[in-house]
Amino acid sequence: MKGKFITLEGIEGSGKSTSLKDIANILDQKSIDYIVTKEPGSGSLGKDLRSLLLSNDNKISGEVELLLMMADRKNHLDSLVIPNLSNGNWVLSDRYLDSTYAYQGGGRKMDFALIDELSTSLNLPTPDLTILFDLPVEIALERAKRRANLDRFEREPLDFHNRIRNIYKSRAEEDPKRIKIVDSSLSFQEVKDQVEYIVSQFLND
Ligand code: TYD
Repeated sequence: MKGKFITLEGIEGSGKSTSLKDIANILDQKSIDYIVTKEPGSGSLGKDLRSLLLSNDNKISGEVELLLMMADRKNHLDSLVIPNLSNGNWVLSDRYLDSTYAYQGGGRKMDFALIDELSTSLNLPTPDLTILFDLPVEIALERAKRRANLDRFEREPLDFHNRIRNIYKSRAEEDPKRIKIVDSSLSFQEVKDQVEYIVSQFLND
């Protein structure tokens, strides 16, 4: 694959979406062609899968949630991510596979071996760079709650979100070359500086 695959990860309210724009600006300056996308919900079946996954009316088991996330991801890869990477476009995705380890593995306590198995069998590519936006859960949830409607995940208790944060951090420790941590408890400008540093290091590699 010719394009680079960059993913953004973090708990609710961690500021991923704001930083996506900063990264896009850097790629614009370098005249790199890219697409911006997100999970869940961006494949050809995405709209339906996303509403199944996020609706507060749906009471689904952890297993079903995991399989739907994986179905959404495979469909996203097939219909958008892989074709773009093959054409030489870069892909910036707001969430990807690390979210499944953190939310379904950490949050819902699903077996990590099952996620590994699904990921291997489905041949899911590993991102070239993942930026993890990390901050204390209490601060992040305060930010997320300012949005009007809370989805199925945002309504979960504090310890659910703390488990997610811990899995993200341990994955970053295990794979420091791919996963770079941004301290998103800092000011808007400091977060921007960290993101710019990480992306410029990646571009110079
Ligand atoms: P979204 O509204 O896109 O939230 P955010 O702005 O926080 O990214 O909702 C996506 C939700 O889906 C979010 O709570 C995380 C969750 N999710 C998983 O549980 N597993 C996954 O594999 C992915 C991709 C997302």
